[in-house]
Amino acid sequence: MAKTLIAFYSRRGENYVNGSIKNLSRGNTEIVVDKIKALLPDADVFQIDTTYEYSKSYMTCIEEAKQELREQARPQVKNAPESIHQYDTIILGYPNWWGTMPMVCYSFLEKYDFSGKRIVPFCTNEGSGLGSSVRFIRQLCPTATVTEGTSIHGAEAANADSEAQHIANLALNQ
Ligand SMILES: Cc1cc2nc3c(=O)[nH]c(=O)nc-3n(C[C@H](O)[C@H](O)[C@H](O)COP(=O)(O)O)c2cc1C
Repeated sequence: MAKTLIAFYSRRGENYVNGSIKNLSRGNTEIVVDKIKALLPDADVFQIDTTYEYSKSYMTCIEEAKQELREQARPQVKNAPESIHQYDTIILGYPNWWGTMPMVCYSFLEKYDFSGKRIVPFCTNEGSGLGSSVRFIRQLCPTATVTEGTSIHGAEAANADSEAQHIANLALNQ
């Protein structure tokens, strides 16, 4: 039976919201994932995370992330599932970090064989849209079908019902 995995990275703590720094008790991407899960109750959810924490301080975190991007780091995926063979569709959610995905999402995509699977990307951001993320997903998973990506303004995550519906429809191939 067709099965969907919602895999996402999201960081709680200080973030840049509509021009000022705010402390987020829940990450923007995480908020959108809840909406998608409500539309696809049979989907499994996996939170992609690093084995270490980034700084809660926004200013420090952006420097940490910049350094990882520069080094093309591949942080280990914490509690990674053994396999994803049971899923034929993977909804992949992440924030835009310096124009692309956090590097641990690269680690996640390199870890498994996505051949024949459908990847539905979505990205929350503060104005840069999807950046280069979908191009990199296609490069990392050349034998997967990667749908169009959906960009969501992070500060509006709580109101992103129509975007969540759009992502669910892409996952259902509707
Ligand atoms: C390290 C870091 C880098 C970021 N880089 C960008 C960027 O290049 N463009 C952009 O529009 N937003 C950028 N942002 C803002 C986030 O993409 C946005 O706040 C997102 O919704 C955060 O999602 P999350 O709360 O699920 O982690 C950055 C945020 C952080 C912490």
